[in-house]
Amino acid sequence: MSESPHQSQSNFVPPQLPCPRFLQVDSPSTEKCDVIVIGLCDDAPLSELGSQLDQAVGGVISGLIKQEKVPTDAGEMMLIPGPGAVGQGASLILLVGLGPQDKLDREAAFTITSTAVRSLTKESQSRLVLALGESFDAADHDAIVAGALYALEGQSIYRSKQAINVPDSILVAGVSSAAIERGMILGDSINQARRLVNEPAAVIYPESFAQRASELAEQVGLQCEIWDQDRLAEENCRAILAVGIGSTKPPRLVILTHNGGPADEPPIAIVGKGVTFDSGGLSIKPSDGMVDMKCDMAGAATVVGTMHALAKLGVKKNVIGFCGLAENMVSGSSYKLGDVIQTRSGKTIEILNTDAEGRVVLSDTLDVAIGYKPSSMVDLATLTGACMVALGNEVTGLMANDQAVCDALTAAAKTEGEPVWQLPMFALYDEKVKSKVADIKNVGEGRWGGAITAAKFLQNFVGDTPWVHLDIAGPAFADSPKPYRDAGATGAMVRTLIRWVENQAAGD
Ligand code: BES
Ligand code: MN
Ligand code: ZN
Repeated sequence: MSESPHQSQSNFVPPQLPCPRFLQVDSPSTEKCDVIVIGLCDDAPLSELGSQLDQAVGGVISGLIKQEKVPTDAGEMMLIPGPGAVGQGASLILLVGLGPQDKLDREAAFTITSTAVRSLTKESQSRLVLALGESFDAADHDAIVAGALYALEGQSIYRSKQAINVPDSILVAGVSSAAIERGMILGDSINQARRLVNEPAAVIYPESFAQRASELAEQVGLQCEIWDQDRLAEENCRAILAVGIGSTKPPRLVILTHNGGPADEPPIAIVGKGVTFDSGGLSIKPSDGMVDMKCDMAGAATVVGTMHALAKLGVKKNVIGFCGLAENMVSGSSYKLGDVIQTRSGKTIEILNTDAEGRVVLSDTLDVAIGYKPSSMVDLATLTGACMVALGNEVTGLMANDQAVCDALTAAAKTEGEPVWQLPMFALYDEKVKSKVADIKNVGEGRWGGAITAAKFLQNFVGDTPWVHLDIAGPAFADSPKPYRDAGATGAMVRTLIRWVENQAAGD
């Protein structure tokens, strides 16, 4: 396939991912730096470190506490002069409210740290000290570091003037080096997924996505197999090929393998929708609905980010990630309404809307995945606007054929503080994807229950594998920023999936 020269951006090198140095620090109150960050609970006395700092600034902090002039609500902040302004230590102190002590969980560690660091990156800082370790459980200390890294990645990758000033060093107090190491892996893996999503479709298309996945795989010791168009044809992946046929950028399937467990143990499968741009095809989207559709490969990006982390963490499980990659475009060769496609599984699907393309791509991708006889399988997809109507844009919809796996994922999501909600999969929905001319059709009946009818379509391709479908259409990509993150890609569910696999490695 030929590529028009103006679309080829291979000579354009995108900026690197944020990569400050993280260091342990023992005496933060005397450490020379630009800003030191300390936390204040609304119902607990100043931490030991807080008291040391307070002394260094002549009791200003305790004075402000007495006058109730300090922030104590979670994420509220106040910048005051530090001891370094006249002597030793930090030039500035960022007082951060932590809220009530009993709410200081893992999510708070991640979000509050990210909020604090993000507020400081508007200016250039070369050296930050995070003195938040004392406020959180040691088991959540990695989330402090992950949250700090999360703050440094955003959607402004192509601004000429840096919008996020990445510090050279971030010193972390009261946190073990193991927790720092783990937090760096988590934060970096989430940011890898976010960067893939934030890149425009002219940069990330099936081939270049596969290329980036293979580079990352190489760096961390994952096996990477890429199926090109010819291989997809040999493998009868006619559904993936159909969705991609209208594009000048041919489809790909990426298989990432992490062999962390015993050789004879069946793998866990993680499958992602990777529609690198969703124009809707001939059932074309209006401009407003198309504007963010570079994000339609977020499921596949989540798979890459998760596999990256599992390899770097050395998780003792066998896990295989599958990314079904295609660009859904409009052209003389586009797949059409009324087409019938025989999928790799043999089942036939009738196309009644070319904008319901994610499930079509996933039909073959799931079929490839179950060929590896996984013990359980999770798929992630920015699949339906209907899921956003049902749950809003911050909550992931779960649909499953197996309650135990669904409960395990829900538990992992709860630990990580990522909101998920299960939708029902009653047999009565099965009727709604039956077709008069083929085995199934790629839309439900009308718009009602659209998230579930999409999941019911997918269920046709999972056999009896215990399976959970995660519809991340809402949470994967944000219209507007929050104090703890920029707008754009969020990296939703990367942390949850890592936790879910790790829980299985620990035998929970
Ligand atoms: N990629 C979209 C779903 C989507 C919408 C993701 C908004 C993120 C934000 C998907 O391919 C799609 O177009 N779904 C259709 C299905 C319909 C045609 C049955 C939808 O939700 O409208
Ligand atoms: Mn679509
Ligand atoms: Zn789509």
